[in-house]
Amino acid sequence: MEPARVAIVGSGLIGRSWAMVFAAAGFKVKLYDIVQQQITGALESIRKQMKELEESGFLKGALNAEKQLALITGCTDLKEAVEGATFIQECTPENLELKKKIFGQLDLIVDDNVILSSSTSCLLPTKLFTGLKHVKQCVVSHPVNPPYFVPLVEIVPHPETDPSIIERTYALMKKIGQSPVKLNKEIEGFVLNRLQYAVISEAWRLVGEGVVSPADLDLVMSDGLGMRYAFIGPLETMHLNAEGISNYCERYCEGMRLVLNTFGPVPKFSGEAEQKINQAMSEKIPVVPEHLDARREWRDECLARLAKLKNEMKSD
Ligand code: NAI
Repeated sequence: MEPARVAIVGSGLIGRSWAMVFAAAGFKVKLYDIVQQQITGALESIRKQMKELEESGFLKGALNAEKQLALITGCTDLKEAVEGATFIQECTPENLELKKKIFGQLDLIVDDNVILSSSTSCLLPTKLFTGLKHVKQCVVSHPVNPPYFVPLVEIVPHPETDPSIIERTYALMKKIGQSPVKLNKEIEGFVLNRLQYAVISEAWRLVGEGVVSPADLDLVMSDGLGMRYAFIGPLETMHLNAEGISNYCERYCEGMRLVLNTFGPVPKFSGEAEQKINQAMSEKIPVVPEHLDARREWRDECLARLAKLKNEMKSD
């Protein structure tokens, strides 16, 4: 049987990673970009990554690297890219006008069955899709970088998205080995970034107020909270840290409220606190490509190993 086809619009960091995720699951992938050089670079980078992953035993999927690579082709013609695709994942820069223009172009050439999906990190579906003829087929599928190792995908509907599109997107994400979650309605920052920004803003205040050093603040997460959060979320943590949620609330809600009432205003993310944090981070990892890239590579290797461990420890 001919493998199912998907189209990826935009071959940057996220587009490449989606292409690898789909190829690992045996899909035929058309990788579209307006810049030919970007596509050439993307295909080279995917080849290099897949070969390295194969050598280190972290390549996903049942097919070997060569077979997966053969499933991915580049393309600079949008119509040709989406021809026969059942799913289109848009991965262009985070710019509302540009994305609206691209969805406008897609709207003119797609059929009534394909799913039109955006990787946007923070643009709301009502901003992106309102007014499109195919609005019922539109959805945000927000990945986490790098999607190859961090499986979460937030599925966010437009108010007019057909429920069957959400179900199909959810099933597709499961099929390719990602971990989808459904939002029932859109909200600024979706869920992941709302949680992330809550953590960042308290981290910023604690360092800014001199309570803790930047290095120690990060350790609280990486060697403390983060250890649990790689396996269970904050709600299950509450459940297990007492005799269930109700007991946790009985025991700790007064203390939690006391602490929460001392949280300060939204930080400005500038001035003295920024200088202090920037200095500490730049001493640890100098802001030059070789150091940043080396640390990113190390991070991705940690994530690959953690993904493997999570698979071995799977429980529902
Ligand atoms: P990027 O800048 O690495 O890649 C964007 C690609 O789009 C480039 O290859 C560019 O040539 C191409 N492009 C520009 N205009 C185009 C057009 N008209 N048609 C087709 N392609 C075009 O960006 P990145 O980081 O891959 O982000 C893509 C999307 O994914 C953004 O919406 C971003 O918010 C979202 N995202 C990014 C994450 C990240 O950590 N980088 C994480 C989750 C989502």
